[in-house]
Amino acid sequence: MNKSPIILGIETSCDETAVSIIEDNESGIPKILSNVVSSQFDIHKEFGGVVPELAARSHVEKINLIAKKALDESGVTLDKVSAVAATSGPGLIICLSVGLNFAKSLASSLKVPFIGVNHLEGHALSPRLQTNINYPYLLLLISGGHSQFLSVNGLGSYKRLGTTIDDALGEAFDKTAKLLGIEFPGGPKLEKFAEKGDPNKYKLPKPIINRGGCNLSFAGLKTAILRITKDINSEQEKYDLAASFQKTIEEILYIKSKIAFKEFLKNSFKEKSFIVAGGVAANKGIRKKLIEVSNENGFKAIFPDIKLCGDNAAMIAMVGLEKFKLNQFNYLDFPAKPRWPLDEDAIFLKGAGVNLD
Ligand code: KG4
Ligand code: ZN
Repeated sequence: MNKSPIILGIETSCDETAVSIIEDNESGIPKILSNVVSSQFDIHKEFGGVVPELAARSHVEKINLIAKKALDESGVTLDKVSAVAATSGPGLIICLSVGLNFAKSLASSLKVPFIGVNHLEGHALSPRLQTNINYPYLLLLISGGHSQFLSVNGLGSYKRLGTTIDDALGEAFDKTAKLLGIEFPGGPKLEKFAEKGDPNKYKLPKPIINRGGCNLSFAGLKTAILRITKDINSEQEKYDLAASFQKTIEEILYIKSKIAFKEFLKNSFKEKSFIVAGGVAANKGIRKKLIEVSNENGFKAIFPDIKLCGDNAAMIAMVGLEKFKLNQFNYLDFPAKPRWPLDEDAIFLKGAGVNLD
């Protein structure tokens, strides 16, 4: 066994095939020896969204190559790997199965433990790849599939404070981008459009802003934007609408974060760290606004590096490492779990008619 554990992490829950190798470090911040991410943008863009069958096929075609590349870049040989960790959910079941089966076979042939990882826990722990952060901390997870405020009380211990009752924030960005003629996934490009527009040109709704605690809702924005796009004729008007959307999202997150701070502090924690993770955490305007609200409320805002915001396998290896140190391994019959909430006790809150009071 190595003195410092080395974990090989695998991520295939959606449209990224990713493998990373990390090594534990006495400082508490592991060393990322390699972090290879292969995105499938080109495969899905003509369909305007991820096509599960095509995604799974691409994972099958690429997983060996990406694993080999990650090993080569890390300089680690397979006999030095202490455990293999793979995303087991949530995600597309046929995509999850590719990485999961690859990981189980590898772990079994190397005679090392296999560790099944929750993708969302990967995002939740991603800043710990770069900074020492003590539990508990407040997390805002904003990705293509999820938007939640959670109190992260320890490894595997989460309390959901608020969630979206309809679309995830990344989904709202992608749908708005599509209406503006931006190809999938439009989030990053929408941000660029917004930089060229007038954020005060269009007034957009802020659903459930005065009720529902720190729960979120974005579906109403899409409807409003659809209506406005019908009257749009120039590129400049598109930029203005993108800027108005970006500003509205920043304001929603500002107000809802303030409510989440209060909820989090009900348990009178001494440390006030506010972690923002997931693909949308790469958005510069959102980062700026959340730093502002954190400073005003005595919280320290912490974001992962841009390259660790989107889906990657280093964050999966990070969860694997923390579990490895606690001997939390899984048997090889551990299933793929398409639905796997971080807070298993939180009630399902989705759809019209949800009671928010
Ligand atoms: O975490 P992630 O890579 O995948 C999921 O687990 O969902 O998040 C992807 C989402 C996409 O919806 C993408 O458009 C959005 O994150 N995204 C952004 C930005 N970069 C990625 N949204 C807004 N601004 C960005 N700069
Ligand atoms: Zn993700």
